[in-house]
Amino acid sequence: MEEAKLLPKDTEAPASVAREQNVTPWSVKGEVGEDGEVKAINYNKLVEQFGTKIIDDALLARFERVTGHQLHRFLRRRIVFSHRDLELILDKHEKKEPFFIYTGRGPSSDIMHIGHMVPFQLAKWLSDVFEVPLIVMLTDDEKYLMGKMDRTVEEYEHYARENAKDIIAVGFDPDRTFIFSDYEFMGGDFYKNISRIAKRINRGTADSCFGFNSSTSIGKVHFAAVQAASSFATSFPFLFGANRLQAAKIPCLIPCAVDQDPYFRLTRDVASQLGYTKPSLIHAKFLDALQGPGSKMSASVEASSILLRDSPKQILKKITKYAFSGGQETLEDHRAKGGDPEVDVSYQYLRFFLEVCACSDCQ
Ligand code: TRP
Repeated sequence: MEEAKLLPKDTEAPASVAREQNVTPWSVKGEVGEDGEVKAINYNKLVEQFGTKIIDDALLARFERVTGHQLHRFLRRRIVFSHRDLELILDKHEKKEPFFIYTGRGPSSDIMHIGHMVPFQLAKWLSDVFEVPLIVMLTDDEKYLMGKMDRTVEEYEHYARENAKDIIAVGFDPDRTFIFSDYEFMGGDFYKNISRIAKRINRGTADSCFGFNSSTSIGKVHFAAVQAASSFATSFPFLFGANRLQAAKIPCLIPCAVDQDPYFRLTRDVASQLGYTKPSLIHAKFLDALQGPGSKMSASVEASSILLRDSPKQILKKITKYAFSGGQETLEDHRAKGGDPEVDVSYQYLRFFLEVCACSDCQ
């Protein structure tokens, strides 16, 4: 959901797969058809490629049962569609054993758009419903490492601080929430875990997981260990206790956009080697840009997304001026065939963000 990664750059993918859909933490691109048009992301194919599982009706029903809460609309509406080991977290909850929620944001600019809010709204709900700690990692180091050569560390520190304000506005419980910037928090048990992880991931594995090659900076390669380290309770002794053996058994649930999955595939492999519990994941779909499915949302392109700082008037203008319509070309056609809500941006935005009454018609 990151604007930088939605731009057509730096994919580092082999040229031979350029026309197939390509989803990595740095590039989200639908399949390019014969006519050059970019298609919508095929999520079922991603589940197959990444080896994750679809969240099915039975799992949703169990989720609702064990929490005793109506499911969040992202779950009800299949915006969160895939998972790894979600059952294990529900087991923990049933047994009243501890776990935590972990999510993050790469602060690539001081502006965030509504698509960025999906994992945070979900993380808030999960932390509230399960009554467990929430960790929010701001990866200012990641975005510095991925950014252009003339950008400074201080710029990214500033973005992290600005983004933190937008993220805090989601309304987390301050007593259960820890938000940090990598530059500020680096050191201690967190850094020890980073070393433990980095030692166990070799170049070959990182290259094939992320599409790195010999021109990739060592910083970018190493960062995989940083994002991984927050998945482990042993990184945060002030939250989970100094007893490493006990903390090693405390898992986390990571709500994220599905492009982040490669990081956590590596994390899960390393977890077993370290004797830590593997993180569980739930994956969200991407919010389409205003131009419709297959287009790229970018906080730096005015017409592509709704920014958190936009006024209601600006939002109205953007929707009426730019939002792709699923309606037919003519009124006659529209009356005969009806619109297509799957591609209609206004409909999709309401599907993501409009909470309605709990009756079965309004799910
Ligand atoms: N790499 C993510 C980004 O670019 C930020 C991030 C760090 C993250 N840890 C995470 C996202 C955990 C989801 C879950 O935005």
